[in-house]
Amino acid sequence: MTKLLLRALAGETLPTPPIWMMRQAGRYLPEYRATRAQAGDFLSLCYNPELAAEVTLQPIRRFGFDAAILFADILLVPQALGADLWFVQGEGPRLSTITSAADLSALKPADDVHETLSPIYETVRILAGELPPQTALIGFAGAPWTVATYMIAGRGTPDQGPAHAFKAADRSAFAALIDRITEATILYLSAQIEAGAEVVKLFDSWAGSLAGDDFDAFAVAPARRIIAALKTRHPGIPVIAFPREAGDRYVGFARATGADCVALDNSVDAEWAARNVQVDGCVQGNLAPHHMVTGGPDLKAEAQRITRALRGGPHVFNLGHGITPDADPDNVARMIEAVRSA
Ligand code: CP3
Repeated sequence: MTKLLLRALAGETLPTPPIWMMRQAGRYLPEYRATRAQAGDFLSLCYNPELAAEVTLQPIRRFGFDAAILFADILLVPQALGADLWFVQGEGPRLSTITSAADLSALKPADDVHETLSPIYETVRILAGELPPQTALIGFAGAPWTVATYMIAGRGTPDQGPAHAFKAADRSAFAALIDRITEATILYLSAQIEAGAEVVKLFDSWAGSLAGDDFDAFAVAPARRIIAALKTRHPGIPVIAFPREAGDRYVGFARATGADCVALDNSVDAEWAARNVQVDGCVQGNLAPHHMVTGGPDLKAEAQRITRALRGGPHVFNLGHGITPDADPDNVARMIEAVRSA
């Protein structure tokens, strides 16, 4: 029998949706914290195939999710292109910045990324051999715009100001950076698929800050190009796209990009999404992550409201963004029980 996640992504309406969670392997789990300590730090964990596979499997063993997501990070691609990358404990990522066409020309060609990223492919190979038969394996990468925002600013930013400024100051250099990331992403995701990923997801966490034509040029067009290239190389490979905070631009996003499933953030109303987005195919989402911290009757009510609202079409149950480190693992089990009994 085909895995539940693959059935939903193929457009099947199921009585109970497959369930997984963004950042399901993470700091809210004591076993993750222990393995990260064993690895030394976050990046060493990402590049250690045995330990990265171990943390990927931890939430599967504990909760029995329908999918595992490769443990890695979207910022490994900039690192593979030659950017310096480090994580400041308690603050987040830092990278060397791209502020000119000269910085751009110092980056490596897209073909070189495999040299840095080959341990990630090894993690995928280990997982493909170790996952339970009913659990689907998801590979992922950041979408070019989101990755570019970190490469330009050298860190996360509340409004992506530096990336917008670079785009305004030198649009052709900015577009060339987007192209370089797009090419690297095609190669990276292709290699993940060859290693055993059964689904891939593109995280465009900052898509919501692109407006009008910029949304078409830098959120839609790169996703369309990546998805077309992947489907040419790997016919039938399902793709989940996450243009977070896209609002009205969620409508038609699957058709415009060729994605099999659109992931909804928790600002989107599930009933609205059923009428306007799910009409084009599978949707994923979209419980607010704070319920994993607060729990209680609201968690059950919200999980069941979303499940019922999206029951008329293909749906993958997930959060609207990643689970936070202060979440209570018991609330995850309660969420799964609520969805399966809705
Ligand atoms: O979802 C999963 O369980 C798979 C692994 C995964 C991680 N990051 C592990 C991680 C995935 C899919 C990501 C994606 C990612 N990384 C995104 C897109 C999704 C989103 O959250 O919007 C972004 C923007 C990043 C970049 C990134 N990585 C930031 C901004 C941070 C710091 C913030 C934080 O949560 O600490 C990270 C670190 C990171 N990536 C952690 C994990 C488990 C925490 C690192 C730690 O253990 O200290």
